[in-house]
Amino acid sequence: MNLTLRVWRQTNASDPGRFLTYPATNLIPDMSFLEMLDVVNEQLIVRGEEPIAFDSDCREGICGTCSLVINGIPHGGQKGTTACQLHLRHFKDGDTITIEPWRAKAFPVVKDLVVDRAAFDRIIQAGGFVSVSTGGVPDANAIPVPKHDADRAMDAAQCIGCGACVAACKNASAMLFVAAKVSHLGLLPQGKVEKDRRVGNMVRAMDAEGFGNCTVTGSCEAVCPKEIRLNFIARMNRDYAAALWQRE
Ligand code: SF4
Ligand code: FES
Repeated sequence: MNLTLRVWRQTNASDPGRFLTYPATNLIPDMSFLEMLDVVNEQLIVRGEEPIAFDSDCREGICGTCSLVINGIPHGGQKGTTACQLHLRHFKDGDTITIEPWRAKAFPVVKDLVVDRAAFDRIIQAGGFVSVSTGGVPDANAIPVPKHDADRAMDAAQCIGCGACVAACKNASAMLFVAAKVSHLGLLPQGKVEKDRRVGNMVRAMDAEGFGNCTVTGSCEAVCPKEIRLNFIARMNRDYAAALWQRE
């Protein structure tokens, strides 16, 4: 396959940035999108040019590090798929592909396609701890958890913290991410002790980081590679209201 890439190049956060065009030639359809960028980078290095900076780690769809907006869609628009698991067979020979970083005020560009997502870490930190008794490991069946709660907690726990939900949202809202994190602990007995404090602290941290509010357009759910459902946001709003009520 031969493709043409329009890639966002930006030296640092204060550089205005620009698109540059690169040919990507002799590609194999079974290559992943990131392997294609590796090939292009090897060619750039051979020519003595600066390689394209992009984030990746596991390349298995589990760490949430890859963060590319491909043809205007975070992670490229394949349902339930991260950019690292996207393969070239989903494109046509001769296609021109536009690649950009996540764009949100709370995610400043570090370089080219790499953004700083430390705001997510600070929200997680604001969530604090979970009360667990020290001592021996309890038997798995010692704390009964209703099946429905366990299933929903596991659904929420699938969030890999990639930030695609923020990048897709016209308000740069982080509510799908925060709702997933609030829910996966709040639904389980072990996380219930600090539930009210946790939701309040995480929502306040989210607002302080400059993320926008949710206006229920659903773009976050549409691009989420882990298919986190919008109804977790409704659940977080209920938890937050209940926590405020308790505090009053
Ligand atoms: S909710 Fe989905 S899109 Fe948002 S950070 Fe989690 S996995 Fe990524
Ligand atoms: S590199 Fe880990 S999810 Fe893509």
